[in-house]
Formats: sequence, structure tokens, C-alpha cells
Amino acid sequence: MPPLLLRHATVFAGERHWPLLADHMVFADLGRILAVLPEGGAHSLKLPPNALEVDCAGALLTPGLIDCHTHLLFGGARAKEFAMRLAGRPYQEIAAAGGGIASTVRATRAASDEGLLAAAMARLGEMARQGVTTVEVKSGYGLDTEHELRLLRLARELGRRAPQEIVPTFLGAHAVGPEFSGDRAAYLRCVREEMLPAVAREKLATSVDAFCETGAFTAEEVSELFGEARALGLRVRIHAEQFGWHGGAAMAARHGALSADHLEYLKPEEAPLLAASGTVAVLLPGAQLTLALPNPPVAALREAGAAIALATDCNPGTSMTTNLHLMLQLGAALYRLSPEECLAAATANAARALGIRERTGTIAPGQAADLLLWDAATPAEALYRLGAAPVRRVWKGGREITP
Ligand code: NIG
Ligand code: FE
Repeated sequence: MPPLLLRHATVFAGERHWPLLADHMVFADLGRILAVLPEGGAHSLKLPPNALEVDCAGALLTPGLIDCHTHLLFGGARAKEFAMRLAGRPYQEIAAAGGGIASTVRATRAASDEGLLAAAMARLGEMARQGVTTVEVKSGYGLDTEHELRLLRLARELGRRAPQEIVPTFLGAHAVGPEFSGDRAAYLRCVREEMLPAVAREKLATSVDAFCETGAFTAEEVSELFGEARALGLRVRIHAEQFGWHGGAAMAARHGALSADHLEYLKPEEAPLLAASGTVAVLLPGAQLTLALPNPPVAALREAGAAIALATDCNPGTSMTTNLHLMLQLGAALYRLSPEECLAAATANAARALGIRERTGTIAPGQAADLLLWDAATPAEALYRLGAAPVRRVWKGGREITP
């Protein structure tokens, strides 16, 4: 792979307060960014003769996008439930009647490895076309030891096949496994005593997630799981305050969680807890709109200085989308985030939510050469067209992956 030299770029380097850099060059070699310089400062750079030069002609260059919350590996589809909800049946009622997560668990268990991989690879292809260079993938549709480990091993296989880096998350505590007929305590014992040690031993995930909600798990139950996960050296994150307030986000912050996700019912006065623990607020407008939920307390999060990320939550029940650009556009439309805040929400802050900010998510020397050249000249132009994904070229670790 030859060294890469991007010239005449307008650089938004990933952090929301960093100034836009006009007419800059970015030099990368061996997968990493080595220099970010104004065009005028180019003489200080000794360029290897074989460098691949790209004239960006003033277009916007940002870090590659990071989708930091997805349930990408699943079987089946739930369009019927979509129609049922439109006819007035609430999500949690459908779930209690055996639909919801349980129906995707049945379809996922029944699907072949190659079938699951092919469907997930197609979704990753859609994401690559949008300049998404890193994707988090959760388990959580297996819900017994065999199938949860299987999903995490398939996530690892996706990492080998896809152009993107895959960051795997263990979500055994998504719902009670069907074999446990509603016995939460018995299921959680299995998650803690069987699944979690195997996940840690095989290094199948870097963090542990849980769904803290009516019909799923309480904050106390999740706290016990998080204590054991941390003792095994895993980071934690949580689905919290989505349908109502259950105290999951504050509890997760006490565990130093990487992120607390959804947060429609977070209390504004809890925002400083997330800021203080460095827990990223991952907002998921796709699920929010699909389920007709209210906006999370964005103003309080911003005022408290909590980092905000945006993600697709790609899953067959509540957010059937791979369109991260649309999520950023909705971050602006629904939450009134500035274009720079929206871009940071899928770059530097999304990297923070995955615990990988030290190596990707910004354009700076030492960071991975994960880069997105837009068909736009400014952050505002990049996010202005609702539903569009104005992408020109994409590099992952310095290698071009533009489809
Ligand atoms: O992030 N909230 C819980 N989990 C998923 C939805 C899961 C499903 O309905 O299949 C979410 O929205
Ligand atoms: Fe989710």
C-alpha cells in the first residue's frame, strides 16, 4: 500500500470545537496519519516519491464515520410488527406476546452462519458506501450460551471479511432467553457464570451491554453484571431510559460506562453524572422515531458537557436502517445539534463510546488513516440534504475502500 497524500482539503478533524482547516494536506503511511499541514507548510514534509496524491479541490475531509451502536447480526425481519405498531399496538405489548426481541432470536437461531454473515455483509456494504469505516456489532439475539458465543464469533468473522473494523459488544442481557421462561434471576446467573467468562476467555468482545427496561432487566440486576464484567477487564455500556426512567444511566456512569444509549427518559439533572464519568450519551433517532418516543434531554447533556454520539441502532425491530448520514441529519433536525456537533457525534465521540478514541475518530498524527472525502465543502453542506449521503471517497487504514 503506497503512502497517501490528500491535498487541498477542507479538514474537519473530529472534535466539535476544533476549527475547520482550510486548504490543508493530510499525509498517511502504513495505515496511520503522519502529518496534517497547511498547503503552505508542505516544504517541511519529505514526501516519498511513490506517494499516491489526491487533489481534494477544497472538498470536506473528515475522519471515517463510526457507527457505534448496531445489532447488525440478525435473522428474519419484523415488518408485520411495524404494521401492528402503526395500527396502535405498543412495542412492549408485542414483545410480551412473544414478538419483539424473542421473534428475532428464533429467526437468528434458525439461520445458517453463512446466511447471517451474508445479510450482515450486505448491510456493511451499504455502510461502506456512506463512508462508515468502523462498526460496532452487538450480540443479543442468541440468548443462550451457544448462540451468544456464536454471534460474537460471527462478528469476528465479519471483521475478517468486511472493509470496516468491527467492534464486538456482548449483549447477553438483552432479554431473558426463551429456555428460562421469564426467570430473570436464573437467566442472569447463566449470563454471569457461563457466558461472561467465556466471552472474556476467548476475547470475543471488548465491552458488555445490557438492556435496562421494563420487560428486560433492572438497574440492580445490570449493576451486578457490570461489576463482574469489570472484574474481568471488560468495559460496560447500557441501553437505558428508552421507554421510561429506570436509573440505568446513572448506575452505568457509576461503573465508568463507555456509553449510555437511547436516553429519551433521562432526567436532565442526571446529565452531569454522564459528563463527570466520561460516559458518552449515544442518541438513536432511528429508534426514537420508529417508536414515536420523545427527544432525549439534549440541551441538558450539552450544557453539562457530556459527549454526544449518534448511531443507527440498526436492528429489525426498532430501527431498520443502515443510514448513519440520516441519523446525523436528524441530529440536526430533531436535536438542533450544529453540523460540527453532528460530525463529531459519528467520529471523535463515537470512537469514545467504543473506547477506541486513542487510535481513531480524528484526523491527527498517530491516528488511523480512516478518512472520508465528502461531496461537499463545509459541514453544513455535508448534512444539509435530508436522506442524501454525499460521499466521494473513503479510506480505511490508508487503503481506499470507496465501493
Ligand atoms: O436498541 N432496546 C433494545 N434493543 C433494541 C431493539 C431490539 C429489538 O426490538 O429487536 C434497540 O432498540
Ligand atoms: Fe440497541
